[in-house]
Amino acid sequence: MNTIAVVPGSFDPVTLGHLDVIERAAGIFDEVHVVVVHNPDKSALLPIAQRVSLIQQAIVDGGVTGNVVVTSWSMGLLVDYCVEVGAKVLIKGIRSQIDVAYETPMAIVNRNLAGVETIFLLPDPAHAHVSSSLVRQVAGLGGDVAPYVPAAVAEFLAAHA
Ligand code: PNS
Repeated sequence: MNTIAVVPGSFDPVTLGHLDVIERAAGIFDEVHVVVVHNPDKSALLPIAQRVSLIQQAIVDGGVTGNVVVTSWSMGLLVDYCVEVGAKVLIKGIRSQIDVAYETPMAIVNRNLAGVETIFLLPDPAHAHVSSSLVRQVAGLGGDVAPYVPAAVAEFLAAHA
């Protein structure tokens, strides 16, 4: 049986921390679907299609394309996507107790809604302080975000500053 895991998020933009989680999930599961979802609680920097494209470039550059699919979902609940593709597992990166508090209710609701389990991966400590919101702020004020994001993202942000 093909075990499919979904790595969901805003990815606005994808960071080295996200990429680390995606790569490690790809080493555990047969297939990994990275799903870009609009989060209405966050003000967006990049259009969804651009975020998908940057993740695709980053995973090609990182050499992890074999079993990774990158897509977006705007048709309702995230678990609806999971049911549609037959994924029983969501993967989330957990950097801190704040992430635990944010993710725990979603994990419980997603399991209640559709029996989809959530597995938390701890980040590589090198990326534990990195977040998309930090990247957006630094990039917006003209700072260098290259240490925090894949090269494709750094180039894109520099070109569109
Ligand atoms: O990167 P983010 O913004 O922390 O990701 C949050 C996201 C997009 C994964 C979450 O908001 C989500 O799952 N949204 C989809 C809508 C949904 O299914 N909501 C119920 C989940 S409890």
